[in-house]
Amino acid sequence: MCGIMGYIGEKPVQNILIQGLGHLEYRGYDSAGIAILDTTTKTIKVQKMLGRVEKLKQTMKPVAGIMGMGHTRWATHGRPSDVNAHPHSDCKGDLALIHNGIIENYLDLKQDLLSKGHHFASETDTEVIAHLIEEELKQQALKQQKTDLKTDLKKAVDTTLKKLIGTYALCVLHKNFDYIVVARNGSPLVLGLGKGENFFGSDVTAFIAYTKNAVYLNDFETAVVKKDSIQIFDKSGKPVKRNSTTINWDVEQAKKGGYEHFMLKEIFEQPRVVRDTLQVKISDDVVKLCKSAKKLFVIACGTASYAGLVGKYLIEQTAKIPVEWDAASEFRYKNPLIGRQDVLLVISQSGETADTLAALRLAKEKGAKVIGIINVVDSTIARESDQVIYTRAGPEIGVASTKAFSAQLAVLYRLAEKLSSTGKNLKLDSLPALIEKVLKQNDAIAALAKKYFMVYNFFFIGRNVMYPIALEGALKLKEISYIHAEAYAAGELKHGPIALVTDQVPTVALVPKNALYSKMISNIQEIKARNGKIIAIATEGDQEIKEHCTDVISLPKTDEVLYPFLATIAVQLLAYHIANLRECDIDKPRNLAKSVTVE
Ligand code: G6P
Repeated sequence: MCGIMGYIGEKPVQNILIQGLGHLEYRGYDSAGIAILDTTTKTIKVQKMLGRVEKLKQTMKPVAGIMGMGHTRWATHGRPSDVNAHPHSDCKGDLALIHNGIIENYLDLKQDLLSKGHHFASETDTEVIAHLIEEELKQQALKQQKTDLKTDLKKAVDTTLKKLIGTYALCVLHKNFDYIVVARNGSPLVLGLGKGENFFGSDVTAFIAYTKNAVYLNDFETAVVKKDSIQIFDKSGKPVKRNSTTINWDVEQAKKGGYEHFMLKEIFEQPRVVRDTLQVKISDDVVKLCKSAKKLFVIACGTASYAGLVGKYLIEQTAKIPVEWDAASEFRYKNPLIGRQDVLLVISQSGETADTLAALRLAKEKGAKVIGIINVVDSTIARESDQVIYTRAGPEIGVASTKAFSAQLAVLYRLAEKLSSTGKNLKLDSLPALIEKVLKQNDAIAALAKKYFMVYNFFFIGRNVMYPIALEGALKLKEISYIHAEAYAAGELKHGPIALVTDQVPTVALVPKNALYSKMISNIQEIKARNGKIIAIATEGDQEIKEHCTDVISLPKTDEVLYPFLATIAVQLLAYHIANLRECDIDKPRNLAKSVTVE
């Protein structure tokens, strides 16, 4: 969480920073700020405020400079406010610092710094780093009088980092140095290489408009970023040589392309995304690993975890291999029984989610092999996995994940096919056309949303492989419309939640024609008997369902195993239109961030 963007070159930096931060707002948008080395006065100018990058853009004063950095925040320590916004400064305002992560021992450090006379302006954990560096530079200056050694910002940062417990991607700009020092441990940071100019960011969207050559930093590495060079150093201070990666997507892909919201654009991209991802080759090594595993685990967070749950059902039913599923945040703290002969499948759009990464590291520590299903190429989780299968969703900007989920399903379905000893063909190639058909119902779903957008509570129900889609549908609705929604395995509703059913609490029932159709009808009847309204997501041509339900969204007829893909599109569109009618900030829902790099 939090977006970082920096530039050093020959162009006026202010607009480059503002533009880059705009692309990073999906990582947090509580407050925004920039720091620029003013070429005229040779001082650091910080401008920051509560609110979004657009507000900063409208109110900031022009500063002439060719070196600077910016930050968009998702608050952890210290509420969102002007003073808690980054960049933070030392006592004299000679340096500016931005940070993504959490410093766990900041209170002890702050106490010590206060006793040395430092003044703090904010309530954040971050600010201690600025004062620690100030203190180091002060010590260096004292030595300089005796030894003639020059002060060295990189050295001051290195010494400071040794005192920190926690995670960080951090960047330091100082008025006396013609370079910016950046460092990472646990939060992502990527460098962008240009000609006579260099960039850094939390991810490549920050600078993709300027360069496609990226170099990813690893944990415990620091880098000195100058206008015409970038030097990376490892933990012991040794220089590191690393080739750049060429980013294979375009700035256009990260734009709205005529849609009102990124989320809607991304929903409509799903035929392409599924088609492309189904082309991804699942290597023999991956298949061998999964087949030889004593136990196969699948873990992830949020939407990716629901894709994983679909994967569990599917691999168990198609390939007859048992799969253990867990949320990464649970897995990592439950002392999981995973060992050398086991395999962990981790799923992540960003490849940076802190809990997923920690689960991966734990599994590796215990000797297990890890296969990553990841969207962002060269992200931390991708790099630390033993094997990677990349989804081809392209950049996903809307905070609520949509196309990445379908892409994850596409990989899991292909994997299930590969793992089945009978060479099962799930007829996946028909999916893009089927998804197109569901998308054609966009207007009908928008009309349906008008009937329901004012309610306060929703239920979602499904059975078997439709159950995780019910979970995902409820999550989408909660995330973007702020309507309370709960998903249940349909048979569980009567064990408590049905007490809440009234004519004001509609239920979305995922009831395509499949082996459990009649069981779902019974559950629908139970709700109907209690005056509950039911929106059925059913199969076209199903006349019976119309008798039981208040409203119906029809999915094209297909093999029952494919319905999760199709029902997903329907629940995404329903959530989208309800949120739109409620005038919610769909691409940037309150309190959320797309990439959760803190636990
Ligand atoms: C956040 C996002 C979710 C996402 C989850 C996992 O909570 O808001 O949309 O599903 O993180 O993210 P990942 O990048 O690991 O898939």
